[in-house]
Amino acid sequence: MNRHNARMNAFAVQQLRLAPSDRLLEVGFGGGINLPSLIAGAGFVCGVDLSRDVVQQAKARFSESIAARRADFLEGSVEALPFETGSFDKVCTVNSVYFWKSLHSGFAEINRVLVPGGRVVVGFLPKEWMDRGNYPSDIFTARAPAEVIASLTEAGFKDVRIERPEPATRWNVMVATR
Ligand SMILES: C[S@@+](CC[C@H](N)C(=O)[O-])C[C@H]1O[C@@H](n2cnc3c(N)ncnc32)[C@H](O)[C@@H]1O
Repeated sequence: MNRHNARMNAFAVQQLRLAPSDRLLEVGFGGGINLPSLIAGAGFVCGVDLSRDVVQQAKARFSESIAARRADFLEGSVEALPFETGSFDKVCTVNSVYFWKSLHSGFAEINRVLVPGGRVVVGFLPKEWMDRGNYPSDIFTARAPAEVIASLTEAGFKDVRIERPEPATRWNVMVATR
């Protein structure tokens, strides 16, 4: 996963097409590889992650942005996002869908917290690649692109498509509109 991580994250950020007025949510931000460019490009960035440790680390690292009301970080799950309906213009998540308990619940929640016309960007390595690794099946579910497309569509997203920098790129960055 690590070998592809930086390029997939950078490409996912590009696909957000950030504007200075955007309110953006990153789900499962982990080590925060995207957070500096997200905070630089959007008006407000919120991160939600299951891990209390990564939330505390982000709060310390981006304390100035939090004080300036340009960022916030919360412990929480994609399946029950702690935000009101229509809170964000854009949502991104990279390398997290393998850990979600339910793709359906996660995308339904992301759909709920986006404004109409809002954009979601989802980066992940496909099942045929992840099946070569030795990931623990109790917490990890490899995801096929068709399954992610079906879940996004079922959750109400439109214009669901896969973007790749080159045709041979192994990872998927899916883009869809609320
Ligand atoms: C493999 S890391 C990816 C981190 C970062 N997005 C990246 O690409 O470098 C997955 C992250 O997703 C978080 N996560 C897993 N399941 C989650 C869920 N259901 N809701 C929110 N965050 C979740 C984990 O705590 C972890 O920080």
